[in-house]
Amino acid sequence: MSEGERLDLVTGFSKLTKHEKLNWIVSQLDLRPGDEFRQVVEHFWLENPEKQALFDDFIENNLTNFLMPYGVAPNFKINDKLYCVPMVTEESSVVAAAAKAAKFWNSRGGFKAQVINQEKIGQVHFLYTEAKHKLMGLFPFLKTQLLDGVKDLTFNMQARGGGIKDLELIDKSNEIENYFQLKATFETCNAMGANFINTVLEKFAYILTQNVKVEVIMSILSNYTPNCVVKTWVECPISMLEDHQIDMGPKQFAQKFKLACDITKVDPHRAVTHNKGIFNGIDAVVMATGNDFRAVEACGHAYAARNGKYQGLTEVIIDNDQFIYSLEIPLAVGTVGGLTSLHPLAEASFNLLGRPDAPDLMKIISAVGLAQNFSAVKSLITSGIQRGHMKMHLLNILRTLGATEKEVTQAKNYFKYKSISYNDVYEFINSNRKLQ
Ligand code: MEV
Repeated sequence: MSEGERLDLVTGFSKLTKHEKLNWIVSQLDLRPGDEFRQVVEHFWLENPEKQALFDDFIENNLTNFLMPYGVAPNFKINDKLYCVPMVTEESSVVAAAAKAAKFWNSRGGFKAQVINQEKIGQVHFLYTEAKHKLMGLFPFLKTQLLDGVKDLTFNMQARGGGIKDLELIDKSNEIENYFQLKATFETCNAMGANFINTVLEKFAYILTQNVKVEVIMSILSNYTPNCVVKTWVECPISMLEDHQIDMGPKQFAQKFKLACDITKVDPHRAVTHNKGIFNGIDAVVMATGNDFRAVEACGHAYAARNGKYQGLTEVIIDNDQFIYSLEIPLAVGTVGGLTSLHPLAEASFNLLGRPDAPDLMKIISAVGLAQNFSAVKSLITSGIQRGHMKMHLLNILRTLGATEKEVTQAKNYFKYKSISYNDVYEFINSNRKLQ
């Protein structure tokens, strides 16, 4: 019998209370004792029902809360201002790596960051079957109708300095028969702007259908925001790269580091992993501030392929004796709206960061991305990644093996200068237990 056949079809599930949903699940599942689904689910409910209700309202069919570690990386000097950056991640070495790089660059001038632009794009995709010159001719009139028709929606955003910056008619009929787009460019100030943009686009679509014979296919923002970009960099004379943890001279280190980044420009296999490391840091801050990490990731990877080939997002230039290392990345994030205002820990993150506006948040997030990449590449070209990674992962292995606090201390001492693998730790714990 397949997994799916174990369950009855259910209707009206979303209308059940949380207890009823849980009862249904437990009644359906052949749960092993000791794998008490209900117990675990209930264990993670907040004691205060009002606080729990906040989380229950975030999504449909919420059963419980899935905890993720929330850590901080201190010592981030960005444009001469110090930040202690909140990070949400489950990967053991991520916060340690960010904090290490922050400290390293702190004494070498810190991170510099500059927001290049902040535009977002939205599209109404539609079919128009009549002669296209008619639509082109109509567009100037149509554009006024469209912009006038959404003034009630854009009024507030405009008062804050944002709103619609451009509205174009794009002819895509060479690619798909009769296919056109309305392409709108938005500035959404401190909001990520997805709801604002989508609401405006749906109104555009409505106005369009009222004025021209078209078939609207869909209206939706684009998460590809190549004009919402921040550039972050660090630089120092090569001699200042000298570090007791680097087992080579600073010149060799700089050259090897550059080569490691250059490889990502020619090899997509390496580039994806390199960028994954950057997103280890970026996603962690995006999540800690209640922003949409899927949107940021999707966009970042598309941006990495903007030259027709998927490439690493960081760049190294060695100019005379100067080491210049940068990251340029689109980051459509907000400091108001959505979960940023609703999630108590997102709110706490903004307080910790000194209540940045959206451009400052872009700078902070990209600095963490660059720092993360620095630590990863530094380890890769020197000690290798596993030493630091497994040191952090040791505790996870010990917890999986059910180690006591005494065993944890013993293992930490034993593995201090040794390479670590699951099997080694397993053997160590087992042989110790046999001796007792
Ligand atoms: C691991 O999560 C991330 C790295 O693989 C990134 C990289 O290889 O650059 C260490």
